[in-house]
Amino acid sequence: MKIPSNKILETIPPSGIRKFFEIVAENPDVISLSVGEPDFDAPWSVREAAIAALENGATHYSANRGSSELRGAIAKYFARKFGVAYSPEKEILVGNGASEIFDLVVRSVLNPGDEVLLFAPSYVMYAPLVALAGGTPIFVQKISEIAKKISPKTKALVFGYPSNPTGATFTKSELTKIAALVERNNLLAISDEIYAELSYETKHISFASLPKMKAQTATISGFSKAFAMTGFRLGYLLAPENLVAAANKIHQYCALCANSISQVAAIEALENCDAEVAKMRAEYKLRRDFCVRELRKMGFTVQKPAGAFYLFPNIRKRTGLSGDDFALNLLKKERVAVVPGSAFGAEFADHIRISYATGLAELETAFERMAHFVQSLK
Ligand SMILES: Cc1ncc(COP(=O)(O)O)c(C=O)c1O
Repeated sequence: MKIPSNKILETIPPSGIRKFFEIVAENPDVISLSVGEPDFDAPWSVREAAIAALENGATHYSANRGSSELRGAIAKYFARKFGVAYSPEKEILVGNGASEIFDLVVRSVLNPGDEVLLFAPSYVMYAPLVALAGGTPIFVQKISEIAKKISPKTKALVFGYPSNPTGATFTKSELTKIAALVERNNLLAISDEIYAELSYETKHISFASLPKMKAQTATISGFSKAFAMTGFRLGYLLAPENLVAAANKIHQYCALCANSISQVAAIEALENCDAEVAKMRAEYKLRRDFCVRELRKMGFTVQKPAGAFYLFPNIRKRTGLSGDDFALNLLKKERVAVVPGSAFGAEFADHIRISYATGLAELETAFERMAHFVQSLK
């Protein structure tokens, strides 16, 4: 029998990042600067909370929206950190990672043919999930291009900051410009703020904290990055009541609820782990400064990223190579893995993404090898 297939899915290429991970997995002596995952383990008190949760029998479904205790803790945390108040009963949904939450949001709001504006380059999940939800992704590279790309079919604008893959964040004045466009064109802003706590230069400004924006914003966040809890698979949505209800309708059919053990552990993360997060942030900042210094020594032009744990340099100007050739040869000759920029769109084929979610000692070796590789190209 020929297995039936989804026509939209057939048009979506496999993740360029995943493709590269598979090559890395076959080469165990490779230093990988390719994964967007903290090298830190989750804080010990979070793990202890998970152990205690299991011991206490947290082995059941929770409420579909997430336990009321966790929703309460998320509301308190977001108000304390970013100054926006959400109702735990009506405006918060807990899901299996920011990934599931993004999927739920686009499936809740899109109809076939609707357009969604996305920044390029941006995190690889946005465009495929928009397409699978029946939407058409439309890319912009700068805020100044947004107005030109808005049509009567545009329903939402997606952005993530600090950004994966560039590490750049928006300034207050940039956010204000985006807010004006969102308001004027009656768009839903889908703001992925999962790296909010990993901002190195300025305090993160949540989009929903801007005047009038809370009513037009779906804020997405989670525990994977700042709390190093990727494997716990937990994220959340902060949004107007009707959007949370719609997203929960899908969530209750496709997931029932998020992992109950993770939900208990997440409360500990939100309430008692500020110091742990600050320690990790300080370490990432040291690594960022090291990577920028080393890349500049090699002759690359790099801007210091303001957050997250990525650099996205153009390597063509210095080396003459495409990102794909650079990444493949660096892997083959020096056993260092980075992600080719093409994974983020054909127009970024001259870039590579470097993740510095790797310890300094390994970064030092990786950058020595990269310098050796770049030297060899002369
Ligand atoms: C910008 C961004 N959003 C969301 C995610 C996914 O997060 P989660 O582990 O909560 O699904 C990632 C993971 O790399 C990311 O970089």
